[in-house]
Amino acid sequence: MIRWKTLLFAFAWSTSTGTDFLPLGNGNSHADVATQDTLKNPPTFVNQSSAPRTIEVSLTAAPARLALQPGKVTDVWAYNGMVPGPTLEAREGDKVIIHFKNNLPETSTIHWHGLHIPADMDGSPFSPVAPGGKKDYIFTIDAGTAGTFWYHPHPDVRTGYQIEKGLYGAIIVRPKLDPLPAMPEKLLILSDNRFLRNGAIDISLPHTLGGMADEENGREGNVMFVNGQVMPKINIRSGEVQRWRVVNAGAARVYRLAIPGQTFVQIGSDGGLFEHPQEIKELLLANSERAELIVRGTGAPGSAAVLQTLPYDRYMPQTRPADWNHARNLLALQYSDEPPAPTTRLPRTLRAIPILDTTKATVRRVLVLSQGMINNRAMDMNRIDVSAKLGATEIWTIENVVGMDHPFHLHGYQFQLLDRNGIPERDRRWKDTVNIPKHENVRFIVRFDANPGKWMYHCHILDHEDHGMMGVLEIK
Ligand code: C2O
Ligand code: CU
Ligand code: CU
Repeated sequence: MIRWKTLLFAFAWSTSTGTDFLPLGNGNSHADVATQDTLKNPPTFVNQSSAPRTIEVSLTAAPARLALQPGKVTDVWAYNGMVPGPTLEAREGDKVIIHFKNNLPETSTIHWHGLHIPADMDGSPFSPVAPGGKKDYIFTIDAGTAGTFWYHPHPDVRTGYQIEKGLYGAIIVRPKLDPLPAMPEKLLILSDNRFLRNGAIDISLPHTLGGMADEENGREGNVMFVNGQVMPKINIRSGEVQRWRVVNAGAARVYRLAIPGQTFVQIGSDGGLFEHPQEIKELLLANSERAELIVRGTGAPGSAAVLQTLPYDRYMPQTRPADWNHARNLLALQYSDEPPAPTTRLPRTLRAIPILDTTKATVRRVLVLSQGMINNRAMDMNRIDVSAKLGATEIWTIENVVGMDHPFHLHGYQFQLLDRNGIPERDRRWKDTVNIPKHENVRFIVRFDANPGKWMYHCHILDHEDHGMMGVLEIK
């Protein structure tokens, strides 16, 4: 017990980003089969290109039969036969070419959620790919945009259905120089689903009671997946530090992540690393948000902990699920028996995030989120809701006037939060999605620095998005 306490305090920020890192104890020297993680990272794509700084891959969406739950076979829709799909890894400055083939029985697209790329490569409903059709997505990853992102279908009104059938995958963009020391890195793609007794994915028909509840709340499931696995295990050694990239790929579930008995150090969000690490007890991760966490082995050798999602009341009281107030287990954290690893130091400053200057903002807009609508209108592909000038800096207020949360997402541009309910944000971070709790409001600043064209903004609860809680922004 004494040793455990010492460890807690032995963890320290280094005072510079220089070379004074202590060596890492990553526990691998004594690893044996019994202590291997059961959590599997999805495989990365096979790069077909030998050209420098070029990633060229093939991605096919097609029906498949997979054992999502132990012992049961499920008809899914999968990217390259996997749920989740392979991870797209690239570096800043890389050219990325994706040969997409749609072998689904319906129209689809692939949206590269959070990437700063041309509008015609965004995979929005404006660029549908017909069944049997193909599209090459080609873009270059800009400097300074490293982070954790994800890809998913985005056809008109069928985004939720296709993601729930199994179509989602992660994107990791690495910087030229990573400010963090090398350490074990894990990807955790969170998702939930519901199944019928025969193993089929349970998607309620519209106009049934269940269908109406899903339409209202967004469809949640009672089976909790991390990288498509139920309750996998990560091994850690006392004193070790690990870097976790977490993606909320759930259709509607807002995760409130915690490891009881431990804290996290959050180092990044949707648009990459923070300026400074922040110690947190728990993390609210709304739909499509990402976080980068440092998980420290503050537990004793041989002990165990659990990553959970704690109850979070995002619902209308009338349709709140009966079991909303139960914590759910997501993943086991198992401490090895090895003696504690030596202390690891993390830099105190991760990077500088440029300030978007509010005095440069030329346009202010208010978007009001109500049930199923934005500014009292439902989505119409033939209407432009917001016209903006290329190069403009704008301040948007997103106001939620109803009694349930709506996570608001803007395509193509990372923004910086200014305040929530008038209370200024304490730090600067790049975001592409922000949860707006019941009856609250958020202001952010954004610069439309490049990439003219039509872009979407919407609630990322997929049932809300598909039922019209989306608008079109045109930049010229
Ligand atoms: Cu995850 Cu319109 O996006
Ligand atoms: Cu997006
Ligand atoms: Cu919503």
